[in-house]
Amino acid sequence: QEIYSKGLKGIKPRFSFDVTQWGSMAKEILPASAWGYVHGNAGTRETYENNRKSFKKWAIVPNRLVKFDKVDLTTKVLGLELNNPLIIAPVGVLQIFHEDKEGGVAKAGGNVNVPYTLSTAAASSIEEAAEASGDGLRFFQLYWPSRGHDDITISMLKRAKAAGYRALFVTLDTYILGWRPDDENHAYNPFLRPDAIGVEIGFSDPVFRSKFKQMTGKQVEEDMSNAARTWSQIVFPGVSNGWEDLDFLKQHWDGPIVLKGIQTVADAKKAVSAGVQGIVVSNHGGRQVDGCIASLEMLPEIADAVGDKIDVLFDSGITCGADIVKALALGAKAVLVGRPYVYGLAFGGQDGVEHVLKSLLGELDLSLQLSGVPSVNKKHLNRDILRRVE
Ligand code: FNR
Repeated sequence: QEIYSKGLKGIKPRFSFDVTQWGSMAKEILPASAWGYVHGNAGTRETYENNRKSFKKWAIVPNRLVKFDKVDLTTKVLGLELNNPLIIAPVGVLQIFHEDKEGGVAKAGGNVNVPYTLSTAAASSIEEAAEASGDGLRFFQLYWPSRGHDDITISMLKRAKAAGYRALFVTLDTYILGWRPDDENHAYNPFLRPDAIGVEIGFSDPVFRSKFKQMTGKQVEEDMSNAARTWSQIVFPGVSNGWEDLDFLKQHWDGPIVLKGIQTVADAKKAVSAGVQGIVVSNHGGRQVDGCIASLEMLPEIADAVGDKIDVLFDSGITCGADIVKALALGAKAVLVGRPYVYGLAFGGQDGVEHVLKSLLGELDLSLQLSGVPSVNKKHLNRDILRRVE
């Protein structure tokens, strides 16, 4: 309504509403290395392309003469009442895109009632991002150190809890970064930059600081590149933890746990047995394993298998409101978006992120209204609204 009423008064928007333009608007502004980092993918980009194609394999089939005033977008996820079925995906090193970085994204989320997820690889500390997000709902994403560094994991979890993060998203698909030609071509590892901007959570962590001092006899500020490398080896250890290790996280995190990166029914069932509260069906936006199945392809069978036991969330490939309709109809309770808001951050800082989130929600709302779907509740929004078209 806000967007329409401005349009009716002839007030031109500051940024384009054409979602297909957001990437190129960001590309124009960003250095090639930062653009390569956000836009880049694993290998030949096949997983990324599979994600995009998978949305086109489903088409919305609208209902007519369904009488209701307003679409109800509220949903309950992880025991929390959300105003919208949308969550800001964790994305690291946001400072390479805009000086508003994590704080700007968190504020934008708070302003439009979209929960914010802070990445372990953030360019802001856990406390700084929490302060910026104010009353906004916030979650913490963990890149999970190997068990030899339990003390550091415990420290991050304690800090996140104390700073008001309400759920823990544990990313399972990135114990090492994928094969990403764009970053290799630019010789660009954002976590190992001389200004060490992707390691703020480590550098501000008292346990990491004292471990580093013990190992090297130096403060992190005295040997930043070595400290950044040490931190990166801790959070990207190259070796995955196992299902049996989840008990450790459950012991040290008092709140909902969500496993991010699930791609199979078997793993979704293991997540249920492990006693976590949610999963994100995700292939990390195509950035980790090339040649992977689209996450959307796996969503229906995973939702059918475990959707009545835990919260099934989804990400990877969402670009517009219609994509959100499809993912929700195929069984997701809420979706995460990554690149679209990062593009917004690049072209407009906090305002750009707000613009992107409002556009996605505006289109979601109108698509449902025009399809005769009164709410995002499963009784209204389900596979009946879709047809498989190829
Ligand atoms: C990510 N993603 C990610 N995930 C995570 O758990 N921790 C992180 O630090 C990051 N960092 C990150 C950086 C960049 C530049 C991108 C694009 C993505 C993955 C992210 O949370 C999400 O899974 C994908 O972005 C979803 O796909 P779309 O929405 O980008 O298509």
